[in-house]
Amino acid sequence: MFSKKTIKDIEVFNKVVLVRVDYNVPMEGGEIENDLRIKASLPTIDFLLSHGAKKIILISHLGRPEGERRTELSLKPVAERLREILRGSVIRTQTGKMPVVKFVPEVQGEMVSEATAELPDGGILVLENLRFFKGEEENSEEFMRAIVEATGAELFVQDGFAVIHRAHASTVAVTKMLPAVAGLLVEKEVTILESTMKEPEKPVLVIIGGAKVEDKEPLIEKFLPVADKIAVGGKIAADGYKSEDPKIYVAEDFAIDDEVDGLANGSMDRAGKKLDIGRRATREILEMIHDAKTVVWNGTVGLTEKHPFEMASKTIARAIGNRRDITSVICGGDTTGFVENLQKVEPELEYSLISTGGGASLELLSGLELPGLECLEDK
Ligand code: 3PG
Repeated sequence: MFSKKTIKDIEVFNKVVLVRVDYNVPMEGGEIENDLRIKASLPTIDFLLSHGAKKIILISHLGRPEGERRTELSLKPVAERLREILRGSVIRTQTGKMPVVKFVPEVQGEMVSEATAELPDGGILVLENLRFFKGEEENSEEFMRAIVEATGAELFVQDGFAVIHRAHASTVAVTKMLPAVAGLLVEKEVTILESTMKEPEKPVLVIIGGAKVEDKEPLIEKFLPVADKIAVGGKIAADGYKSEDPKIYVAEDFAIDDEVDGLANGSMDRAGKKLDIGRRATREILEMIHDAKTVVWNGTVGLTEKHPFEMASKTIARAIGNRRDITSVICGGDTTGFVENLQKVEPELEYSLISTGGGASLELLSGLELPGLECLEDK
């Protein structure tokens, strides 16, 4: 059970609500490549507006500008995308109006006070990238207090699930100056991920892929007591990961890249490399999916950006997404992006949770405490 207070446990009517979202979305040439994280914030925005919150102030980071203003990391395009998404949605203010979305290229000071004052009731104000200022990552109370004062915020809502493993001003310091509760995304992600670890319906299959061996080994260890089977693909299998544990299956056959030149991104060194798991391994994993009641998938099993090395991951994504009778959790940036793109062309595929968290979901699944969650009010 989720032990923290959420927006359902407090009065939001007529309040100025400061909401930490994680709009750290992948950008390419000023374009948003995937808006999963923006869409994932809608249930909380909808709840607040339909329960009469006076104003919503959204705060987030984007990328790692390390305390400096970087035009390409401004949240302006993100605010614009949010406006478009809301326009196409059924979300309305309590008085039935389309919510106004404004952006201000600051996080504190007069410009923010004025923008907040001018915002109509039921309006949303997106502040600039918090990480343009050193105070954010320094978890500075002074930095946060200036934001709270400029916006007149009366309540803090943590809905940036993907960032709650960081102890920053907008995840920790803020909770010292405002009543602080969880948003619906944080509640949903934490509840599903925790119950997947604590009381999963068995048999449990965990599929581990991706590139970073050092990230994945602790995850395999952590899942060992819970999982009935762990299937390992991706680079860690290609690099020869071995285990004596009978629960752990490591792919042994691979699709090999024999292209020697002509790779646009200068990755000639990939020639002759094992870039996807092979047919035998894919078949084995499909059988495991067939037998499972809970599947957690972290890390694609091949180099999905280079055709045809996305094939095994696609087959696995389809096999999981076609099983409506199981709990399926997809986590890790590469896997979630991959599955989401596949869903765009194959909308019949369904998953219990496509987690917005990369590091946050891994830390939660690995049993680590998340500072941005711990400091919220208990029920
Ligand atoms: C993420 O993308 O995992 C979160 O937004 C956190 O970003 P960070 O790793 O730069 O803190």
